[in-house]
Amino acid sequence: MLAMPRSTSSPAAEDDPLLSLDRELASDAFFDDPYPVYARFREESPVHWSEHLNAWFLTRYDDVRAVLLDPERFLNAGMVARLLEPLPEAERVRFLPFRQHYEEGGLVHSDPPPHTRLRALVVKAFTPRIVMALPPFVQGVVDRLIDAVEGEGQMDVIADLARPLPAIVSAELLGVRAEDRERFAGWAADITTFAGTAKFGVDVVERAQRSVLAAEDYLRERLAERRRTPRDDLLSALVAAEEHGEALSERELLGTCTTLVVASAETTTNLIGNGLQALLVNPDQLQRLREDASLFETAIEEMLRYDAMTQSVRRVAAVDARIGAHEIRAGQLVYLMLGAANRDPAHFPDPERLDLARPRAENRHLAFGQGIHFCLGAPLARLEAQIAFDTLLRRLPGLRPASDRPAWKRNLTQRGLGALPVRFERA
Ligand code: HEM
Repeated sequence: MLAMPRSTSSPAAEDDPLLSLDRELASDAFFDDPYPVYARFREESPVHWSEHLNAWFLTRYDDVRAVLLDPERFLNAGMVARLLEPLPEAERVRFLPFRQHYEEGGLVHSDPPPHTRLRALVVKAFTPRIVMALPPFVQGVVDRLIDAVEGEGQMDVIADLARPLPAIVSAELLGVRAEDRERFAGWAADITTFAGTAKFGVDVVERAQRSVLAAEDYLRERLAERRRTPRDDLLSALVAAEEHGEALSERELLGTCTTLVVASAETTTNLIGNGLQALLVNPDQLQRLREDASLFETAIEEMLRYDAMTQSVRRVAAVDARIGAHEIRAGQLVYLMLGAANRDPAHFPDPERLDLARPRAENRHLAFGQGIHFCLGAPLARLEAQIAFDTLLRRLPGLRPASDRPAWKRNLTQRGLGALPVRFERA
């Protein structure tokens, strides 16, 4: 069946169950708890043309995975231009530098063959050795952040731990001053707001563009320093990376470094925030983890599955393509709902239950994506989360929620809490 845009104003439309389901995507209830809505989409309209998003909305595991594994027909390049299309032409021109940032240097925003070359160069610099050297540093940062609140008997886990941690680790990784972490977190927040807002105003793009350009200016200076005096850090490794006589251009370096800062910030913050929230509302599982440290590995995977921080990624159809009974037209935007796929009962036994011991073989979640764009930072995110949870549970006995109204952000791409107040026994 070919999806036809429907009129939302006709009386018939009022009775159309799929249109009323579609409207849920703009509701506060959806952002508070998207999972009942996803369950209905998976059942009633798994390949759904969304009026609200002006895009396809895919919620079944098999469909989402199939598109992720089909980079020839479903593209990442051109995404920012596509997202800016609803703006008037005169406004769009102002955002050319923003588009260029992604089109000329982006890892996530490119397709093969440029993506293959770019990814090989970045992988060459971002070696397992770099991540393997980090645990003592990450542990030291987490301990210092907990030292600051331990005597208080209460903290906001987002502001006091989950937000600063990835910003400090990114700064260390790239080899820049830790004092600059506030700026990193601010840039990441502005860019994430743009990426996760379905109907944005010019102000949202303006803020995102300002942050991209500020990040570029900042990183340009740091890259120039590394060219003059190489150090033992990721920036220097990226400058030096070479494959078959090719190196990263200045634009690619700026795009890659900005991606590393942005991709690691909100996501890791939300892994810690969403994961802890899931434990707090499932105290039996929290207790289980306290009693059995051997569960940490499967526990982190279950947190990634259960409440995926990156709820969606997007692709643009390169050609007309059929998914199930539906014809996706070339140029149409497709939302791949990773959060919905991760709760698909066709792939996960009892998917609505948080089970920290869910065997790895049964938990092939899509939280880090799949295929050629699979998250490059997955080992680092797992490491930071493991150390953060281990330390929280060890050092803060009696950890419990201090609010029964979690403040979920209204973002379609990154699911996370604005704040997570907790109480514990004072040290
Ligand atoms: C819990 C934390 C994280 C989650 C849930 C996450 C999720 C994802 C997802 C879903 C993708 C695929 C995007 C797509 O298919 O379009 C991705 C790509 C990527 N991630 Fe992550 N990420 C996390 C942490 C990190 C960290 C810590 C870093 C860097 C240090 C990072 C760097 C990247 C990069 C560079 C890509 C692009 C890879 C490519 O296009 O080839 N991520 N991430």
